[in-house]
Amino acid sequence: MISKDISLAVQHLNQNGIIGFPTETVYGLAGNAFETEAIHKIFDVKKRPTFNPLIVHIKGIEDLKQVATEIPPIAYELANAFWPGPLTLILKKQPYIPDLVTANQDTVAVRVPNHPVALELLHQLDFPLVAPSANPFTSISPTSAEHVENYFGNQINMVLEGGECSAGIESTIIGFENNRVVVYRLGALALEEIEKVSGSVTLLNKKDKKPIAPGMLLKHYAPKTDFILTRNVQEELDWYSDKKIGLLLYNSFMPDLERKNQIVLSEESDLKIAASKLYHAMHKLDKMNLDLIIAERLPEYGLGISINDRLERASKK
Ligand code: TXA
Ligand code: MG
Repeated sequence: MISKDISLAVQHLNQNGIIGFPTETVYGLAGNAFETEAIHKIFDVKKRPTFNPLIVHIKGIEDLKQVATEIPPIAYELANAFWPGPLTLILKKQPYIPDLVTANQDTVAVRVPNHPVALELLHQLDFPLVAPSANPFTSISPTSAEHVENYFGNQINMVLEGGECSAGIESTIIGFENNRVVVYRLGALALEEIEKVSGSVTLLNKKDKKPIAPGMLLKHYAPKTDFILTRNVQEELDWYSDKKIGLLLYNSFMPDLERKNQIVLSEESDLKIAASKLYHAMHKLDKMNLDLIIAERLPEYGLGISINDRLERASKK
């Protein structure tokens, strides 16, 4: 059930229920971060392996110490600069954070979401919320209440309505090693923005063996329809000319295909707008009974890097 009733959401969460809730990045599947009963439900419904830890959502920086300890000064600087917002920090965890949240690691992921409904909800609770993106494991992340409802329906207590997500892709996840910033997952906050505050950051290589942030799992964010990513859309169109094709394009339509089978992410070449529309477009194309979706690679700077990362994972078999 989709509803705008925040007090109903509070009731469900107080009784160890789980709900879909809006954030500026994607919708989350939320439960009480201190209650393993609620957390188990999240893993079950999402069919998520328990080796994949969850992000803890707090209402403000003043609650950070409730969740994390040994917080380095640079973490505070970044939190002050970007919270509420799409930046998740990996920090040493407080001992009482359930092991289920952190997949038995001694670190915890934490962020303050920048969405009025999410913040109001968190203010009315006396515990933080764990929330993975509200999609079944490896599927496309949800950017509207309807996406969540379509995925989970009666398996969850409710979906709190908060409109379409403004950022549209997940938070950027960073950690700290010897006072250096390490990027675990690319996301809605561009690395260039982080570097203005922290100096240069290190991107964990995709080929690094340990998938510490399984957002970095190779196949992820994937539509059911076959999906390929290319720099040269025309070439692929020619090659697959016998198939029913949908196009996911950066800034302009292709002349040789019906417009209704094409989605342009940002005619004004604005990467923020492109990010905000990405999952919505992928959900839409995936519902069109196509044989194949061809996605165009975006420019490799700013949020283009994060978007290409998602498109690459979506195209993995
Ligand atoms: O934008 C977002 O981050 C959304 C909204 C709902 O806040 N949440 C989200 O959660 O994307 P999820 O569960 O889909 O992705 C969380 C990522 C996973 O890749 C997980 O492995 C990583 O965070 N993560 C969580 N705790 C971690 C930790 N202690 N160390 C490293 N990675 C961690
Ligand atoms: Mg996810």
